Amino acid sequence: MKSALPGRWWATFAFITVVAVAGVAFLIWASIGRSGETLAACPPACPVTFTEPSSLLPASVEMDQTIFLYNLIFWLAVIVFVVVEGLLFWTVFRYRNRPPESAVQTHGNTKLEIAWTIAPAIILAVIMGFTLQTMADIRGPVAAQTLRVKAIGHQFWWEFRYPAQRVVTASEMVVPYGVPIEVEMESVDVEHGFWAPELFGKVDAIPGYTTRLRFSPNQIGKSEYGGTCTQLCGAQHAQMRFVVKVVTQAEFDDWATAQLQPAPAADTLRGEVAAGAAAFVEAKNACVACHVIDGVPQAVGKVGPNLTHVGSRPFLAGGVLANTPENLALWLKNPQGVKPGNLMRIAPLDDQTVANLVAYLSALK
Ligand code: CUA
Repeated sequence: MKSALPGRWWATFAFITVVAVAGVAFLIWASIGRSGETLAACPPACPVTFTEPSSLLPASVEMDQTIFLYNLIFWLAVIVFVVVEGLLFWTVFRYRNRPPESAVQTHGNTKLEIAWTIAPAIILAVIMGFTLQTMADIRGPVAAQTLRVKAIGHQFWWEFRYPAQRVVTASEMVVPYGVPIEVEMESVDVEHGFWAPELFGKVDAIPGYTTRLRFSPNQIGKSEYGGTCTQLCGAQHAQMRFVVKVVTQAEFDDWATAQLQPAPAADTLRGEVAAGAAAFVEAKNACVACHVIDGVPQAVGKVGPNLTHVGSRPFLAGGVLANTPENLALWLKNPQGVKPGNLMRIAPLDDQTVANLVAYLSALK
């Protein structure tokens, strides 16, 4: 019996091993959350860069449960892989190049067949038990003190409504720590997907239908979590982002109170800000046809985001630009150039009007 394997066999074996190890290393590297630049580090007129959210860094009770299930299934699969591949390789080595005359043909092995039927059945039953339990836990009945938020998908930005607080905002969902949050998703146009990987699994927002998800943030260290649309919904699907800001209950109450304040009355404004307020309601600029500003009776449009507190938001245009005066000017001059295919179509504005509008909108904190 020949003891050594042919050289080519070893080369193939080594190649497959290297590719498999490199593949697994890449998957581990790609799945670990890596920090991008923060919003604050972004100089004026540069696009927003988000920290890459990762489901493997859970920050809510529900994601902790989901990740436990994920790890359970992953490690069971690793054990199955090692046992099956180990037996396969052992068989290949043990019985390589055996002279045909020494081989004994057998048929069937009842004990083995029972074993390899029962073992997978037990593993799948364990996975099913934990899966049903996790599904029941994360979709269970809503607690009494739950905060309700409506997330409404628009091409291409997210609107957030707080029915109890009567707050309406865009692109930024502020929630208190330690309180279960129930999000009701709707869409005004096409199907969108709502996902902040560290806080909850993705759920679609479907026109004419309300879907729900629940999450309870349980980490206060990091306060901002990136989220995005996950259903291909048009040209700017990739630029339909939002941020979930987790704050203390007191900070949340202060925020909600501030969000309820209407915009300052026009006769209290001076200089560029007053000129901007006048330009905003001018019919030829068409701002009021699509946007609401509480306290401005002409501004009643429902197509675009409510701008009552646009100056307090972290970014503009559904996450394309950081909210700086330079970026706001860029956006007002050429919204189709910044985000082609979005619904903001306006006649070109002269530089002074843009400067006035920037001064006014930036002052709406
Ligand atoms: Cu909305 Cu993709």
